[in-house]
Amino acid sequence: MALIIGAPDLQMIRTMPAFQTPKVSCSLQRYLRPNKRWAATNDGVYTASRVQSTETKEDPAETTIMRKKALISSSSSSRRRQVVEDQKAHTMPPEKMEIFKALEGWAEETILPLLKPVEQSWQPQDLLPDSASESFMEEVEELRSRSRELPDEYFVCLVGDMITEEALPTYQTFLNSLDGIRDETGASLTSWATWTRAWTAEENRHGDLLNKYLYLSGRVDMKQIEKTIQYLIGSGMYVKTENSPYHGFVYTSFQERATAVAHGNTGRLAKEHGDVQLAKVCGMIAADEKRHERAYTTIVEKLFEIDPDGAMFGFADMMKKNISMPAHLVYDGRDENLFDHFSAVAQRVGVYTVGDYVDILEFLVGRWNVEKVTGLSAEGRKAQEYLCSLAPRMRRLAERTTHQMMNSSSKGEETGNMVAFTWVFDRKVKL
Ligand SMILES: [Fe+2]
Ligand SMILES: [Fe+2]
Repeated sequence: MALIIGAPDLQMIRTMPAFQTPKVSCSLQRYLRPNKRWAATNDGVYTASRVQSTETKEDPAETTIMRKKALISSSSSSRRRQVVEDQKAHTMPPEKMEIFKALEGWAEETILPLLKPVEQSWQPQDLLPDSASESFMEEVEELRSRSRELPDEYFVCLVGDMITEEALPTYQTFLNSLDGIRDETGASLTSWATWTRAWTAEENRHGDLLNKYLYLSGRVDMKQIEKTIQYLIGSGMYVKTENSPYHGFVYTSFQERATAVAHGNTGRLAKEHGDVQLAKVCGMIAADEKRHERAYTTIVEKLFEIDPDGAMFGFADMMKKNISMPAHLVYDGRDENLFDHFSAVAQRVGVYTVGDYVDILEFLVGRWNVEKVTGLSAEGRKAQEYLCSLAPRMRRLAERTTHQMMNSSSKGEETGNMVAFTWVFDRKVKL
């Protein structure tokens, strides 16, 4: 998992709640991304209450919205009350838990084989200079000389991808927030829990490999990158999946494919710049992401088969909310708009674009044969219609947005549309 941009309209993305600055309680403030808006003063209270949802047709008793009124403190003794944006949890009716229990055997036979045994897996060391070898220094020098050919804008994209991979604790936490599939003990033997742990273990190699590679390259500011990782893991992510595995598996299906696209593109660009070894690194990671995509899309395919309404609602709901990226709270201690800036560079360089977002949506609609799904309720058919008409509408919007971005980007240097990234020692990169 990793990724970068959300929906095809960056302006729209900026106004979406998920992309607005997070609000947190004062006791946590020092560990998380600071919020400029905390500076105002007022007294406040902290409460967490269970309230009835007005946005869902599920049984209200089963619907929990954590509505937190956070006590926010500025650095002085003054305080201010802020309402944390609603975080909706547990909207899946309890009877659906049975579906996931019943799918245990199926998951064991169909999903777990998509994991690669450890002994057959590549490890970061296979793709890095061997520090125990006599030729280590020479290999490092070769790596560094290849890296010199790559522009800063490329490193901004690669660092963003690496940081997203490094926030892996957040993603394991996310999977374990999903009802019906979470690892109840930390070493549970259910198929779902086994998958989650082994998936995490596979993913762990991605951040390790990219981190070490970037460290050896000497092209990036590791201290700033490490700070960004610490901020990001501390902030977590909120991607509106409501603890529902229907929503959650749609999200992971989308993300794994998006990540494969992004790593595939950083690999292609590395090759174009003559760094074949780095291209190989990105390619190995992208191949893992594709395998993960196969697993998650297969799970959703099964859900469409046994609970077409549930799967259709989950898919439509996620697309209505837009797929927020795992690193949407990224912060380096300096740039308040780091996610936007990083996304803009990734878009311009072609690592992950608004067109990719629409391609993925279109792919998933086809992969799950959404148009042909039968056995739906009237509401389910509405969701189906929405999904079938969404990609063409988004495509038109994406084309317009891309056109506007290219126009403003081509004027970038004259209009000073350059931003300094701490990740590359405050050097400026064109948006
Ligand atoms: Fe990954
Ligand atoms: Fe992955």
